[in-house]
Formats: sequence, structure tokens, C-alpha cells
Amino acid sequence: MDNFFITFEGGEGSGKSTQATKLYNYLIENNLKAIKTREPGGTPSAEILRDILIKGKPERWKPLSEALLMWAARYEHVKEIILPAIDSGKFVICDRFYDSTYAYQGIAHKIGIEKMQSIKKIVIGDLEPSLTFILDIDPKEGLKRTRLRKDGEDRFENFNIQFHKDLREAYLKLADMFPSRCEIISGSLSVDEISKLIIAKTKERFNIP
Ligand code: TMP
Repeated sequence: MDNFFITFEGGEGSGKSTQATKLYNYLIENNLKAIKTREPGGTPSAEILRDILIKGKPERWKPLSEALLMWAARYEHVKEIILPAIDSGKFVICDRFYDSTYAYQGIAHKIGIEKMQSIKKIVIGDLEPSLTFILDIDPKEGLKRTRLRKDGEDRFENFNIQFHKDLREAYLKLADMFPSRCEIISGSLSVDEISKLIIAKTKERFNIP
């Protein structure tokens, strides 16, 4: 472990954003230096890319264009926010990172994970989170939850159910590929149960007393 970089991953409506906030609050309340950020987004220019990526019709982008825009947003975010925070020794809690591109574009959109791995090397080199929580949930249950939101950020939710099923399998595959940093957490537990698990795993991983 050479950084305090923690990422949250999962399909639509998995509850990862709620859990990212809860972990961030825990760290701050315990006087640990931390920032919370998200992808796509996290800087003014990356937020512009977020807007065009996650709003509008599913067919708005071809999968490869979508992937390249995700990587462009990530480059801005890593250079401006993530690396400076890591270098100053802060915890960085990030709601989605490159596993999302591997899962959504690489696997569910079938671009191929190897192509995404090649681009990853060019864009962010060997930067890796130390810990990645994957919130696993039945896509039907997750999509039911997201339909209650009315923020217009629903482009990905509107891909067909097979896309969301493939996505779930994709995350399980990523957990197999990167077992030393990935923790799968059942998204069907209660918010408090999940939060307790996540805090316990974080304390263990980073030796927080
Ligand atoms: P969220 O912030 O609600 O999770 O929305 C972000 C959406 O963007 C979500 O549907 C997943 C998608 N996404 C990708 O497809 N690839 C990526 O690399 C990232 C970071 C997000």
C-alpha cells in the first residue's frame, strides 16, 4: 500500500455514493485528512464531460468515443485533484474510477478490457487505488432505486437489462482480477450494515486504531 486512495464501484443504484459519503464523514470525524470526489467529473472541465456523457439518449455516443471521453475526464481529474491529494498524504475517496471504464466500456460495451488496459497505461500509468469497494446488487433492484431519481443523469440506466446484467458479471470478474485491492460488498444489506463493514475494512487496511 503506497497511498490512501479508496474507490467505490458498482452498477446503477448500488448505493456506492451514499457509502462513499459515509466513509468520508467517518474519516473527517476521526480527524483524518480526506477529500471526496467523483468520476466522471471532479474538476470543472471534467464535469462538462460528465454532463455530455451521462445525459441524453443511450445511442448518443459510440462505445469507443464514450470510453475516450471517460479517459479524458479522468486525466484532468487525476492531474488536478487526485495526485495532489495523494501526494499531500490525504485519504482520497473516489466515487467510481477506472474499474468503471473496464466494466462499462471494456466489458459491458464489449470494447475489450485489454484495450482499456493499454489506454490506462498511457493516461494514468501505474496509479492504483489501495482499496476498492464493489457494491454488488441485482440490476433489477438497483434500477428500481434509480428510477426514483429525477436528475436527468440517466443515460446509462436506459441501456437494456442485458447490459446491466453483463455489468454485474464484469465487476465480479474485476474483483477476481484484482483480489488484493477489491472487496465485494452485498448492496442488499442495510445502509448501516454496509457502512459498518466498509469502515471496518478501511480501518484494517490502513491500520487506523
Ligand atoms: P453515477 O455518478 O451516478 O455513478 O453516474 C455515472 C455514470 O457514468 C454511471 O452510469 C456509470 C458511468 N461511467 C462509465 O460508464 N464509465 C466510467 O468510466 C465512469 C467513471 C462512469
